[in-house]
Amino acid sequence: MTQKITRVGLIGYGQIGAVVRKMIEDDPGNGMEVVFIHDADTRRLDSLPANLALRDLGDFASRKPDLVVEMAHPDVTRQWGTTILEQTNYMFISVTALADVGMEEKLLEITRRRGTRVYIPHGGVVGMDALRENRDVWEEVHVVMKKNPKNVDCARAGVDPNTITKETVLYDGTTRGICPIFPRNVNTHASIAYAGIGFDRTHSVMIVDPAWDKATVSIHAKGPGVDLHVERVEAITGVTGASTPASIFNSVQMIGSTGPGIHLR
Ligand SMILES: NC(=O)c1ccc[n+]([C@@H]2O[C@H](COP(=O)([O-])OP(=O)(O)OC[C@H]3O[C@@H](n4cnc5c(N)ncnc54)[C@H](O)[C@@H]3O)[C@@H](O)[C@H]2O)c1
Repeated sequence: MTQKITRVGLIGYGQIGAVVRKMIEDDPGNGMEVVFIHDADTRRLDSLPANLALRDLGDFASRKPDLVVEMAHPDVTRQWGTTILEQTNYMFISVTALADVGMEEKLLEITRRRGTRVYIPHGGVVGMDALRENRDVWEEVHVVMKKNPKNVDCARAGVDPNTITKETVLYDGTTRGICPIFPRNVNTHASIAYAGIGFDRTHSVMIVDPAWDKATVSIHAKGPGVDLHVERVEAITGVTGASTPASIFNSVQMIGSTGPGIHLR
């Protein structure tokens, strides 16, 4: 069987982007090839071969990607989502962009018109398949995130994380409301809301304590005759949990790999 190579373009060459590139390139048999890497901080591109570094994202189509993967910031989807989807498929991991009113419709409209696809990875959400498969069953879904304040980008919340000395609830309300306040921290909440009962019905809580050195995400979904509890406690660097880079690679692979072997779905 001849193998088609999936051409993958990467936006964001930080913690996650660098791991995803390495994992794609470490396994040439997976049928994927990185065809560009773009980052707003162009110093991150300086060490890359010229055929990979893409300084102007406006030139992305010249690399003929089959899939573009955002691993940078929700602003990329706001500014480039529809332009990318005019040409090719798009996966974005900064899922808080979906909390913008009208974003889902805008993306859906372009995919229908152009026949392209959007992918949302499960990322930090353990059990996204169960949330989605039972989305008509859940009566309530709660997400509680606990972190050290130094791992929370508080810029938009107007809070100085260095002034927090004890356990403090930074947010308690709808997932729609938390996304614009902590856009880099609550992608997990956004994915849970999108998979389950939506941004306005999902309940989000963010608690910080400088004594915590791990990040905890607890999900509780309830419906008639069914109760789902999931909790993961893990190390965290910056805004990203330890398991996320490999999880994102796995999603890229599920979409793009054309290599032989046994593939879990
Ligand atoms: N879906 C999930 O479960 C999940 C989990 C963790 C992180 N994330 C999100 O993934 C993204 C990347 O996380 P990370 O830990 O790799 O962050 P990081 O800070 O290590 O890297 C982000 C990179 O993107 C670049 N960047 C920022 N804004 C950009 C823009 N507008 N255009 C192009 N490049 C831009 C930065 O220069 C940086 O190199 C963040 O938005 C984060 O919130 C999602």
